[in-house]
Amino acid sequence: MRCVNFLLCWLSFPLLTTAQCPDYSDYSREVHQPVSSGKYQLSWMRPADECRTFKSQAVEDTLVKMQEVIKDPDLYRLFQNAYPNTLDTAIKWKGFASGTDEELTFVITGDINAMWLRDSANQMQSYLPLLTASASNNSIASLYRGVINLQARYLLTSPYCNSFQPPVESGIPPAENGAANRDSVYPSYSPDNVFECKYELDSLAAFLEVSANYYSATKDLSFFGKYSWVKAIQTVLKVAEDMMTPTYGEDGRVNRQPYRFTRQTTRATETLANDGIGNPVANSTGLIRSAFRPSDDSTIFQLFIPANMMFSTYLSSTADIMGKLNASDSGPLAQKMKNLSQALRSAIETHGTVQHPTYGKIYAYEVDGFGGQTIMDDANIPSLLSAPFLGYTDTSDSTYKNTRSLILSATNPYYMRGPTITAIGGPHAGPGYAWPMAAIVRILTSDDDEEIRGQLKMILNTTAGLGLIHESVHSFNEGDWTRQWFSWANGLFGQMVLDLAGRKPGLLSESYQGLGGQKGI
Ligand SMILES: *[C@@H]1O[C@H](CO)[C@@H](O)[C@H](O)[C@H]1NC(C)=O
Ligand SMILES: *[C@@H]1O[C@H](CO)[C@@H](O)[C@H](O)[C@H]1NC(C)=O
Ligand SMILES: *[C@@H]1O[C@H](CO)[C@@H](O)[C@H](O)[C@H]1NC(C)=O
Ligand SMILES: *[C@@H]1O[C@H](CO)[C@@H](O)[C@H](O)[C@H]1NC(C)=O
Ligand SMILES: *[C@@H]1O[C@H](CO)[C@@H](O)[C@H](O)[C@H]1NC(C)=O
Repeated sequence: MRCVNFLLCWLSFPLLTTAQCPDYSDYSREVHQPVSSGKYQLSWMRPADECRTFKSQAVEDTLVKMQEVIKDPDLYRLFQNAYPNTLDTAIKWKGFASGTDEELTFVITGDINAMWLRDSANQMQSYLPLLTASASNNSIASLYRGVINLQARYLLTSPYCNSFQPPVESGIPPAENGAANRDSVYPSYSPDNVFECKYELDSLAAFLEVSANYYSATKDLSFFGKYSWVKAIQTVLKVAEDMMTPTYGEDGRVNRQPYRFTRQTTRATETLANDGIGNPVANSTGLIRSAFRPSDDSTIFQLFIPANMMFSTYLSSTADIMGKLNASDSGPLAQKMKNLSQALRSAIETHGTVQHPTYGKIYAYEVDGFGGQTIMDDANIPSLLSAPFLGYTDTSDSTYKNTRSLILSATNPYYMRGPTITAIGGPHAGPGYAWPMAAIVRILTSDDDEEIRGQLKMILNTTAGLGLIHESVHSFNEGDWTRQWFSWANGLFGQMVLDLAGRKPGLLSESYQGLGGQKGI
């Protein structure tokens, strides 16, 4: 018997095995009872208990605790569905590197059966508030260690790539990437290990981020000395240095380029200009190049400021870990990391800022060192909007404030406006589509209660009743959205709600059912 309706299947198979678990890509397109009691009637969207990919008592306890805190029934339902989404659906495999005690966690992005360095680091980050030191293999700490170890393996295998295949130990076959079959990439890679090979500086920064987060919450220093972490950091530094190579040498000759990527495609953002090296980049800015953005779209100018900010911040926090290790070279390495972090910060402030005629001194999204600059923001993190969330700067910093005013206005070419959602979007989903992720980041970087209320209300109105955070939503039509199963954005929503519970709990006891901004239930 083929199961079409999940509820009927559940009734007919009280003892569900994984074989009967519905594909979450399908499950997350349909409304499931019971719906929430508010006006949005949001679907129940957690898979059946037997179908969840990882169980954490800490997460379940948080869901129960937050029921008292979040008074709006729709807001609570969205939190209830979204926060556990990575654990419920995306921990595709967890185990050990063959013949060792090295934990490995293979975390898929959601609807694509591959692990992104960026997504998996951020999927883990949503559980950072619950992370505590634990040696147990069913703890959040164990998931983190597995992600860090697997990312280190990926970086040592193909450090220029962004998305990877299941580890051989899992027995899961590699996913087929039709688009990558039309790529020409240098350095070359094996499709058995790599799902896609777009060089993105923020992927390297993601490894630093997940490492720094694990250490900050657990103080588990010995873990970092045990496996390949130090080697992976050395690889990250080597790529960063190589990607500071300018296009031309001092005598005008074109330098040997460390990375090239072209793809046969009809989308300009899926390939690089100049036969794969991108638009020319000048010398002496001290910034690191990025061929692609965190949206996986190509950069216009490769000195992509938000990733340089993120890299600088997490390089500094991981230098603290490195400095405490006992490896023979950890002292000089830590010093090198601190130096680079500091040098990047000053390079960003010198070469990554622009005097705008209306907004004053702002951060550019991208520059090329010749004077070329892209003035915009894209929803994906790292973004300019997220700079304080990344720990690079403070919300009260004047350059950030000016930048924020610009990117949250029609002066940003990717600011989408409409009755359904007004938020930053990007070329990935294209003009017309705003990203709820950007509305979430707006809350995370705001101290203004009215602004936060408006964003919460808007987010609730963008799930088409499905009760999950979609990748993008048409600003004039709630029913027109992309990606029903995008785990990172759901985790980020949960992380934002927990952040509000800490810093502005009163906002979570209000109603978001009205049209205007009225307070109180
Ligand atoms: C933890 O380890 C035990 C013993 O090796 C194993 O049976 C169990 O499946 C593991 N649990 C998780 C969540 O990995
Ligand atoms: C870049 O500029 C620096 C400082 O002017 C110089 O030392 C270096 O040789 C230049 N590198 C290249 C590849 O031109
Ligand atoms: C480094 O060595 C010192 C002295 O032997 C020791 O106390 C410390 O625990 C070691 N640290 C790590 C991370 O192994
Ligand atoms: C770090 O910077 C300091 C001061 O600029 C310099 O003396 C030192 O050699 C640098 N160390 C490394 C490892 O780059
Ligand atoms: C929800 O979106 C619709 C358009 O899709 C709009 O008419 C309505 O005013 C929005 N409601 C709220 C509370 O923002």
